[in-house]
Amino acid sequence: MRVTIFGASGLLGQDLMREWRGDVVTGLSSRDADIRDGKRVEMLVQEQKPDWIVLAAAYADVDGCERDPELAFAVNRDGALNVARAAKMAGARLLFLSSDYVFDGRKTAPYEINDARNPQSVYGRSKTEAEIRLLELLPSCCIVRTSWLFGLGGKCFPDTILKLAASRLALDVVNDQRGCPAYTVDLARAIIELCRKNAEGIVHVTNTGDCTWFEFAEEIVRSAGLSTAVRPVSSVVLARPAPRPAYSVLSPASLQAFGHSMPSRGDALRRYLEDRLK
Ligand SMILES: NC(=O)c1ccc[n+]([C@@H]2O[C@H](COP(=O)([O-])OP(=O)(O)OC[C@H]3O[C@@H](n4cnc5c(N)ncnc54)[C@H](OP(=O)(O)O)[C@@H]3O)[C@@H](O)[C@H]2O)c1
Repeated sequence: MRVTIFGASGLLGQDLMREWRGDVVTGLSSRDADIRDGKRVEMLVQEQKPDWIVLAAAYADVDGCERDPELAFAVNRDGALNVARAAKMAGARLLFLSSDYVFDGRKTAPYEINDARNPQSVYGRSKTEAEIRLLELLPSCCIVRTSWLFGLGGKCFPDTILKLAASRLALDVVNDQRGCPAYTVDLARAIIELCRKNAEGIVHVTNTGDCTWFEFAEEIVRSAGLSTAVRPVSSVVLARPAPRPAYSVLSPASLQAFGHSMPSRGDALRRYLEDRLK
């Protein structure tokens, strides 16, 4: 199988490149192809003739998107459509990375794939519009919604917490947003499996077990053997430009339907902390 990954230099993309073995995989960063440039994307896809395209490229800075909606929609919606058009033209299958931020967070039970989208942020709206337009253009595409990524390939929540905990006596962390972290190694493995199974439709992929950011921070600090105090605070205290869903737990049922289950958050965090020391 031939695979092209857009966003190969990102947090997830680096683990997709590391984990994908036994197929011919080409990874592209924004330097190789800015997905806003439809002609360049089309040319590269025609050249590489992939069976699968994984679109992990995005403007994923949620607060940055709030400040620059034009860029958010240009990359996350219009760029995604450029890749989808190129995929259609080349007869390639497409797997697109989307987000829990397509939901408004008012539910109190895990979000299923057919729950109504109602994004509250620019980032969430850009992903929502991409999902809708992609499904119109390529009804057989696969959309993987995930959340709270952490991994070795760059800045992420556990990395930030560990760095802060090393230099502070106490950390204030929000305790009114509940979701499911996803270790990029486990997410990459699930994506590879989905491509090999020719998956279609929307699939939710995170590690199992939900938590708040505060609960996750406590686990990270304790698992690393640190004694820094972690204090729960309201998101009103630590206000950010983009609104976050208060509850965005994604149900694993859609992934389980493909015969794949994800490791627990605790197991993923343990491996992340070990991998960090290698
Ligand atoms: N991070 C999360 O918590 C989270 C949660 C839910 C969903 N997601 C989604 O999961 C996917 C992967 O996220 P991530 O955290 O791995 O992202 P990331 O670390 O920010 O990486 C983004 C990737 O996109 C590329 N990129 C950015 N703008 C581009 C453009 N205009 N043209 C081509 N490539 C461009 C970057 O390339 P350069 O390195 O060359 O800039 C990089 O490879 C994204 O679709 C994101 O929206 C992420």
